[in-house]
Amino acid sequence: MLLTQREGEVTVVVKIGAIGTGRRGKDHLRRLAQMDDVKITAVCDILPGVAQEAAAIGNSRKYLDYREMLKQEELDAVVVATPAPVHADPTVLALEQGIPVMCEKPLAWTLDDALRIVKAAEETGCICETGYQWRHNDFLQKALDRLRGSGVALVRGTWYHTIPLVESIRDVKTGGGQIFDQSTHIIDLSRYFAGDISTLYGAYTLNARTRAEFDNYENWDGYAVTVKYMSGAVGGFTGTYALFIGHGEPVVLDIVGSEILVKFLGDQLTITTPSGIETLGQETAGFTAGADIIGNFIKAVQTGDRDLIKSPPSDSIKTLAATIGANLSAQTGDLISPEELIARASAGENIAAVDLTYL
Ligand SMILES: NC(=O)c1ccc[n+]([C@@H]2O[C@H](COP(=O)([O-])OP(=O)(O)OC[C@H]3O[C@@H](n4cnc5c(N)ncnc54)[C@H](O)[C@@H]3O)[C@@H](O)[C@H]2O)c1
Repeated sequence: MLLTQREGEVTVVVKIGAIGTGRRGKDHLRRLAQMDDVKITAVCDILPGVAQEAAAIGNSRKYLDYREMLKQEELDAVVVATPAPVHADPTVLALEQGIPVMCEKPLAWTLDDALRIVKAAEETGCICETGYQWRHNDFLQKALDRLRGSGVALVRGTWYHTIPLVESIRDVKTGGGQIFDQSTHIIDLSRYFAGDISTLYGAYTLNARTRAEFDNYENWDGYAVTVKYMSGAVGGFTGTYALFIGHGEPVVLDIVGSEILVKFLGDQLTITTPSGIETLGQETAGFTAGADIIGNFIKAVQTGDRDLIKSPPSDSIKTLAATIGANLSAQTGDLISPEELIARASAGENIAAVDLTYL
C-alpha cells in the first residue's frame, strides 16, 4: 500500500483493481473514486468499450483479461463484479496471490466453485467479502439489539420486479432466477436475524409472461419459498419478474419477535412495538441500499479489522446453498436441507444454481 502525507497526516492508499465493470462494477468504481485513500489502478472487462468507460472513472489502466491484470499490476485489493458464473476463477486467483477481494453476490454459480473460494480465503487468510451490502446498514445493530431476548417467530420477504434489465440475469440459465440472483439479499439478511436455514421448499411458475407472449423470456415469473430455520423460526419469501418498471411496491423483509416487528424497506428500517413506530434511515426508491460495503471493505484492508467484514465466503456459501436449494426444490418437488447440499458438494457432487436437466 502507498503511504502519503498530507497536512502532517499519514494516509494509507489502497491500490485497487476491478474485474467486471458493467452496471455494478461501475457503481463500485464511482464510490471508490470519491475516496482519498484509494487509487483505482486498473480495471478489466472482456468488452473493450465497457473497460474503456470504466478506466475513465478513475483514470486507470485497462485490461481485457483479468489474469493479465493480476500478473502485471501490484494491487492491494480487487473488486469482482462479473456475472455469477464468473465469480470464482478471478476471486480464487486474486486470493492465491495474497490480494483481498470483495466479490459480488451470489458467491458463485455452483457450490463447488463456492467451496473453492471458501478454501482459498481460509488458506491464504486474505480478507474476502461477499456483496451483501444490506448487512452494512447502519441501523442493523440497533434492530438486532431491540430483538435481543426475543426469539424470532416469523420472517417474511417479498421482492416484486420486472424482467431483469441485464441480459445475463434475464435468462435463468445464466442468471439463476429471482431467488438466486435478487431475493438472495433478503434471504441472506434473514439469516442474520433468524440464523441458519434447516429446510426449505420452493414452488415456482412461469404462468403470466408466457400468456402475454413475451419474446425471449426464459425464466420463472412467480416464486414462493417456505423456510424453516434451525432456531425454530419459520418464514416465507415471495417474488416475481411479472411486473413492470415503476410498479411502486417496495422490497420488504419483516422479522417478527415477541411484540416487535422489524421491517426493512431498502435503506429504511422501522421498528414497531406497543410503544409506537420508530423509523430509522431514509426512504429510497426500491432496493438501492446505499450501505457502504465498499468503504468498509477498504477500511478492513487498511487496518486488518475483520469486524468490518460482514459476509465472508464461509458464511455466504450458506445463503448460496439456500437459494440453490430453493431452485432445486422448485424443480424436483423435494424438501431441501442447504447444509446437506453443501455436504454433497464437498463429497464431489456438481450442484449448480439451476439444474438444466429439469428445465
Ligand atoms: N449487490 C447488489 O446490489 C448488486 C446489484 C447489481 C448487480 N450485482 C451483482 O454484480 C454482478 C454483476 O452484475 P451487473 O448487473 O453489473 O452485470 P453486467 O452484465 O452489467 O456486468 C458484468 C460485466 O462483467 C463482464 N465480464 C464477464 N465475464 C468477464 C470476464 N471473464 N472478465 C472480465 N469481465 C467479465 C461483462 O462484460 C460485463 O460488463 C452480478 O454478480 C450481480 O449479481 C449486485
